[in-house]
Amino acid sequence: MSDWLQATVVENKQWNDRLHSLRLEADFPAFKAGQFTRLAIEIDGELVSRPFSLVNAPDERPLDFYFIEVPGGQLSTRLAQLTTGDEIMVAPKASGLLTLDQLPEAKHLYLLATGTGVGPFMSIIKTDLAWELFEKVVLVHAVRFESELTYQETIAQVQAKQSDNFVYVPMVSREQCDFALSGRIPDAIDDGRLEHWTGTEISPEQSQIMLCGNPAMIQDTMDLLIKKRGMKKHSRRDPGQISIEKYW
Ligand SMILES: Cc1cc2nc3c(=O)[nH]c(=O)nc-3n(C[C@H](O)[C@H](O)[C@H](O)COP(=O)(O)OP(=O)(O)OC[C@H]3O[C@@H](n4cnc5c(N)ncnc54)[C@H](O)[C@@H]3O)c2cc1C
Ligand SMILES: NC(=O)c1ccc[n+]([C@@H]2O[C@H](COP(=O)([O-])OP(=O)(O)OC[C@H]3O[C@@H](n4cnc5c(N)ncnc54)[C@H](OP(=O)(O)O)[C@@H]3O)[C@@H](O)[C@H]2O)c1
Repeated sequence: MSDWLQATVVENKQWNDRLHSLRLEADFPAFKAGQFTRLAIEIDGELVSRPFSLVNAPDERPLDFYFIEVPGGQLSTRLAQLTTGDEIMVAPKASGLLTLDQLPEAKHLYLLATGTGVGPFMSIIKTDLAWELFEKVVLVHAVRFESELTYQETIAQVQAKQSDNFVYVPMVSREQCDFALSGRIPDAIDDGRLEHWTGTEISPEQSQIMLCGNPAMIQDTMDLLIKKRGMKKHSRRDPGQISIEKYW
């Protein structure tokens, strides 16, 4: 137990029947935008912990975690029940390489997320570094239904500050939505709709791509970018253009 920090729930904001933002006060150490930590609750005498991305920028408090209540999920169903004043455990550090300091130089940064995978990108677009490193930052948030296009207030604030450099692309796959692209991320890249929307070309010379969320989306998008756009997965030892974080 001593390896965990005690955190207090400040707010459990419910966006719809399954999506929540859990805001916590804790004495949490410094971290980089894009990283995750672990949340834990003792359930039937056992400590159950799972990784969750930090949505707040490194200089912001409270800590913010955007999560989906997975039907039958061991931890997320318990997180969904937390209310203001409840206690929860947080790992005493952040980890993860979905961070801007890992990336080679490029003109454009594409942040491509499904569902709750938009969380680490919220933290990233709130940092100054994103706007120092890239001429243009594109955020694609792909969801099934319009009601899942959350964090609109944060997005509007960034849009207001970075009007020439920030492009937000909502995508809705399972209902008609007038202001969003329809369908899935890899299809919208393949048929050119995404680049038409952003006015920038996705190419190995100009673009860095970060992918987060559904592992099938990540695989399909990576396959497409490798086969059709000549990109490759990025690592520090073998630099490329595609950085990923699969949520399951
Ligand atoms: C590095 C990392 C960061 C993560 N960050 C987040 C985050 O910020 N927000 C978040 O909601 N989840 C995040 N996850 C997933 C999270 O850790 C748990 O897997 C999730 O909360 C389900 O846990 P559970 O105990 O309720 O369900 P379990 O009983 O462990 O069930 C797991 C199943 O739930 C489904 N699932 C898990 N995560 C998601 C998801 N995000 N969206 C849709 N379906 C999912 C999958 O089908 C998976 O097989 C992250 C995972 C990783 C590896
Ligand atoms: N969202 C809901 O209303 C709902 C309701 C009940 C249960 N659930 C469960 O909750 C979990 C998460 O749901 P979620 O809606 O947050 O996430 P999700 O299933 O990951 O869907 C988010 C977005 O990712 C897209 N996507 C899925 N597979 C893809 C692929 N291979 N390539 C590209 N894009 C892909 C989806 O498109 P498509 O729509 O084309 O698949 C959708 O636009 C799932 O396990 C689901 O079974 C969701």
